[in-house]
Amino acid sequence: MQAVIGNKYYYIQNINFMHIDIITLFPDLFTGIFSQSILSRAQKKGIVSVEFHDLREYSVNKYKSVDDYAYGGGAGMVMQIEPIANCLEDLKKKRTYDEIIYTAPDGERLNQSIANELSLKNNLCFLCGHYKGVDERVREHLVTREISIGDYVLSGGELAAAVISDAIIRVIPGVLNDETSALSDSFQANLVSPPVYSRPAEYNGWKVPDIILSGNTKLIDEWSLEQSIKRTKERRPELLK
Ligand code: ADE
Repeated sequence: MQAVIGNKYYYIQNINFMHIDIITLFPDLFTGIFSQSILSRAQKKGIVSVEFHDLREYSVNKYKSVDDYAYGGGAGMVMQIEPIANCLEDLKKKRTYDEIIYTAPDGERLNQSIANELSLKNNLCFLCGHYKGVDERVREHLVTREISIGDYVLSGGELAAAVISDAIIRVIPGVLNDETSALSDSFQANLVSPPVYSRPAEYNGWKVPDIILSGNTKLIDEWSLEQSIKRTKERRPELLK
């Protein structure tokens, strides 16, 4: 299988095993997402394992709180460094992380190339932010990477960690049954996907293009590539630069 990282193509031969630890104040937010569809299948196939760690268990006070007022004032609470540092110290006793990723709106913007790159790692850890974010020293000293899923602010980093995990897991070799289907996804070659059709060949007078019904795979592939290029020019011209 091939993966595109930056502007280079990599050939991947071996099936990787990946463990993901997710540090969160709301572990229950993840249960539905990781127990369905491809994310569940990846775990059942033994390619991925995921563990959630409730940050409150690492609180350093009897109230189980993990946040406090910001020094210097200002609205909003800050996630304190101690519970996060203690949690990471505990987790690092078990494994060495390739990346410790803090999900933050001002991080590098997630794209297919980053998902492909991270899919080749063995141990990832996500730290989900809340409130006004984490004490800056966490960002400076404890995390290795900061990723955003777009220019908008979510109420917490959990949905971002779930989105990033999904984008990574589905491209791990062996997760999808038909590996070519991940390769033909939008963005894998900096092109968006071509249109696709299924039965019936005509609905309400709306016809599937004759070429798609021709059975000539060479012509269909050429047509699909043309359509991908045309759509990318129309919808996402910046991808072609
Ligand atoms: N936390 C809050 N908003 C976020 C975003 N857009 N991306 C990643 N993490 C976030």
